[in-house]
Amino acid sequence: MKEYKAVINGEFIDNNEWLEIINPTDNSIAGKVTALKGKDINNAFESARKSQEAWENTHLLKRISILNNFKKLLIQNKNNLAEVMTSEIAKSLKDSLSEIDRTIELIEYTFEEAKRMDPLALTGEGMGAKNKLGIFSRVAKGVVLAISPFNYPFNLALAKIIPALVMGNTVVFKPATAGSLVGSLLGKLSIEANFPKGIFNVVTGRGREIGDLITMNKEIDMISFTGSVSIGNNIKEKGSSKDIVLELGGKDPALVLDDNNLESYSKNIIDGAFGYSGQRCTAIKRVITTNKIADKLVPLLIDKVNKLTIGSPYENKDITPVIDQKSADFIKGLVEDAKLKKATILTGDKYIKNLIYPTLIDNVTLEMRVAWEEPFGPILPIIRIDNIEEMIRVANESEFGLQASIFCADINNALQVAKRIKTGTVNINSKSQRGPDCFPFLGIKNSGQGVQGVRESLLSMTRYHGIVINY
Ligand code: NAP
Ligand code: G3H
Repeated sequence: MKEYKAVINGEFIDNNEWLEIINPTDNSIAGKVTALKGKDINNAFESARKSQEAWENTHLLKRISILNNFKKLLIQNKNNLAEVMTSEIAKSLKDSLSEIDRTIELIEYTFEEAKRMDPLALTGEGMGAKNKLGIFSRVAKGVVLAISPFNYPFNLALAKIIPALVMGNTVVFKPATAGSLVGSLLGKLSIEANFPKGIFNVVTGRGREIGDLITMNKEIDMISFTGSVSIGNNIKEKGSSKDIVLELGGKDPALVLDDNNLESYSKNIIDGAFGYSGQRCTAIKRVITTNKIADKLVPLLIDKVNKLTIGSPYENKDITPVIDQKSADFIKGLVEDAKLKKATILTGDKYIKNLIYPTLIDNVTLEMRVAWEEPFGPILPIIRIDNIEEMIRVANESEFGLQASIFCADINNALQVAKRIKTGTVNINSKSQRGPDCFPFLGIKNSGQGVQGVRESLLSMTRYHGIVINY
């Protein structure tokens, strides 16, 4: 079985303690990662702290050049990285490859944007302080703890690691357990890219066992976390840093306001709901529309769901097994609850272990759990509401506020509704989605705190340092 070792202070850790990573497709062991204990975790933070000042004092262009060597290695190892990703999270090979391509673009964009983090130069003149000139530069915060979720082990890891490092921070990175083979490979490639020792440390092990040891370490200056609401809020309460960016769950609604382009609307809804088997924070997780529109939309949705291919990620099927049996049981529970409360199952509701057939559920009412809870799987509830005010109310009543979609040919109507939707972003006539990665990306309410995106991550991982010249 292939071993993937943690990396601390530029060296592989060989403690002979392992955590097996299960392949969700066939339950085989995809590999094993180091199961770290407290002493090593402390060492990771100490080495991040020790190396930080020298790394920050390294010229920006030199930092970019070192990180660019790393980027080249990511490109050279693209096929292996994609295969490993598929083996540990059951994302189709083609989607794993496109996650890598997209991230390479993000890295390149980040390098360019980092060069434009110019200082602010201000005079105090407007405040009656004519003799003052302030120069406010963005400087590194120090040691950044980056914690990523299972569903985008490459993109959501590097979207934190690269902006942190390029701006002169050092990083301790905790990948999700499912995703830690890819995470450990990032550590290995950082050694091959000759990163200065200590600037990038990969700590692996189960979050529930070592999470507190990691998040409560006193060396942390900033935490960037992506994952579930419960773990994110727990870290916010208990973690050692008040400086925290959280990207959490969602229940993105698609509001269909007219029947002008139902073919295009239905395509977007199905892509949005069932991409990577619904395991995207930004997946469309409920459709809200009127009875009249639903009667025409539903047959198109059924038709498209019936065309989705189901099976192995190695064969690039659309619907692949969800991450584990626990997750599959949870998703099935939501469907069972809806059935008990008289929802109409239109497709799917078939389960082969953790492979869930894409399930459309019509006539979902507000008493059903599936109207409110995030399934993180291939099921899509349709809520029929005839009053537009009520549609907006239901969209906004959610505990989540990540994204929403509005489908409507009349742009004025679409904009009027969009302005009233309480989410980080509203997409008009498209599925909800994070990308392009240069856009600000944020969730409100329980969906998060702070903003990601290329420029926003550079900002959140730096602070102002002012020098005031009195003359
Ligand atoms: P998760 O269970 O919350 O895990 C996220 C990360 O936290 C993993 O690295 C996990 O490690 C770690 N962790 C677990 N317990 C911890 C603890 N006590 N202390 C510190 N870290 C701990 O989430 P997930 O299942 O990987 O991802 C799915 C969730 O993420 C969904 O809710 C989805 O909506 C959300 N998500 C949000 C965004 C966004 O941008 N808004 C993007 C992607 C995903 P282990 O794996 O070892 O437990
Ligand atoms: O799971 C959360 C990801 O950030 C979603 O990204 O909308 O581009 O698939 P995406």
